[in-house]
Amino acid sequence: MEMIALLVLIMKTGTTVSGWSVTFENPNPCALKGSSVEFSCSYNYSNGEIVEDTGHYYFWFDTNMYGRRSKTSLHLYVTELSARVYPKTVRAGDNVTLECGVSCQLFTTVWFKDGRPVAKPGFQAQAEDAGNYLCAVEGNMAMQSDPVALEVQYPPCNVSIEVSHPGRLAEGSSVNLTCSSAANPAAHSYIWYRRNISSSGSPLQVGVEHMLFLPSVEASDTGLYLCQAMNSLGGNNSTEVLLTVGASYFNHFIFLVGIGVKVVIVVLLALVVIWAWRCRSNHSAVDKKEHDNDYENVTTA
Ligand SMILES: *[C@@H]1O[C@H](CO)[C@@H](O)[C@H](O)[C@H]1NC(C)=O
Ligand SMILES: *[C@@H]1O[C@H](CO)[C@@H](O)[C@H](O)[C@H]1NC(C)=O
Ligand SMILES: *[C@@H]1O[C@H](CO)[C@@H](O)[C@H](O)[C@H]1NC(C)=O
Ligand SMILES: *[C@@H]1O[C@H](CO)[C@@H](O)[C@H](O)[C@H]1NC(C)=O
Ligand SMILES: *[C@@H]1O[C@H](CO)[C@@H](O)[C@H](O)[C@H]1NC(C)=O
Repeated sequence: MEMIALLVLIMKTGTTVSGWSVTFENPNPCALKGSSVEFSCSYNYSNGEIVEDTGHYYFWFDTNMYGRRSKTSLHLYVTELSARVYPKTVRAGDNVTLECGVSCQLFTTVWFKDGRPVAKPGFQAQAEDAGNYLCAVEGNMAMQSDPVALEVQYPPCNVSIEVSHPGRLAEGSSVNLTCSSAANPAAHSYIWYRRNISSSGSPLQVGVEHMLFLPSVEASDTGLYLCQAMNSLGGNNSTEVLLTVGASYFNHFIFLVGIGVKVVIVVLLALVVIWAWRCRSNHSAVDKKEHDNDYENVTTA
C-alpha cells in the first residue's frame, strides 16, 4: 500500500498558544486497495518551547503497530527583512543605496519611505529624501523590516526675511527682521546687508544675528535688506526686502491732492484770463464792425 503524507505546517510565532495542537483535515479517510491516500494535517506549537523555527525537519509516522523516522530531512531557514540605507548620512547630491537584507531569494521586496512607495533603491539624495525607510515583501505589507533613517545634509535654502511690521514705518518706531531658512544642520551664523535703492554702491553689513532689531528707525534706514544664512556646508542669500521709513502713503496722498488742487486753480485762472481776453477782443471786433458801418455810411453818403 502506497501512502503519501502531506504535512501542512502552520507555524504562528509570537502567538501565545500554550502547548501543541494538531488538526487532521479528514480524520476518517476511506481508500480503495491499491490506491494512494493523502493525509493532511496542521499543527501549532507554543513558541516558548523552541526559540527559533530554523532547523532540520524530519518525517515521522506512527501507526498503532510501529513507527519510523526518515533519514533525510528538510532544513527550514527563517529570516527577517532587514533594511539598510547606505550611507545613513549623506550630503545633498550624494548617492544613496537601499538594501533589503533577506537571506533566501524567495521574495520580491519593495521599499517605502514614510509610508510612500520608493521608485528606485538607488538615487541621488535631495533634502526631501530624508526620512524613514523600510522594505516589505511585495503584496504582503505584514512582512516588513524595521525602519531605518536617512539623514540628508544641505546648505541653507529657502532663505527668507520676516518683517515684524510690514509696510511703511514711521520715524522712531521699532522693527524686527527675522531671517529663516531650511538647512541641515540648522544655520548657525547670519549676515545682514542693506543696500540703497538709488545708489548702486556695494551693500553695507548691518548685523550678524538671526534677528535684526532696529529699535528706533530713521529715514537713513530705508533700503533693501537681505540676510545670508550659513551652516557648515555653505551659505545662501534671501531675496531683498524693501524697508521704507518716513512719510506715509496717506501723506503722499494729501501731498498729491494738494498739487492737484493747485494745478486745477492755475488752469481755471488761465481759462478765466483767456475768456476775459477773448471777450475784450470780441468787443473790439463789434466796435470795428460798427466803425466799418460808419465808414460804409460815410462812403455811400
Ligand atoms: C493554530 O492557531 C490558529 C490561531 O491561533 C488557529 O486559527 C488554528 O486553528 C490553529 N491550528 C491548529 C491545528 O490548532
Ligand atoms: C540657494 O537657495 C536656492 C533655493 O532657496 C537654491 O536653489 C540654490 O541652489 C541655493 N544656492 C546654494 C549656493 O546653495
Ligand atoms: C523650499 O521651498 C520649496 C517651495 O516651497 C519646497 O518645495 C522645498 O521643499 C523647500 N526646501 C526645503 C529644504 O525645505
Ligand atoms: C523685537 O524683538 C525683541 C526681542 O525678541 C522684542 O523684545 C521686541 O518686542 C520685538 N519688537 C518688535 C517691534 O517686534
Ligand atoms: C549674498 O549677498 C552678499 C551681499 O550682496 C554677496 O556678497 C554674496 O556674494 C551673496 N551670496 C550668494 C551666495 O549669493
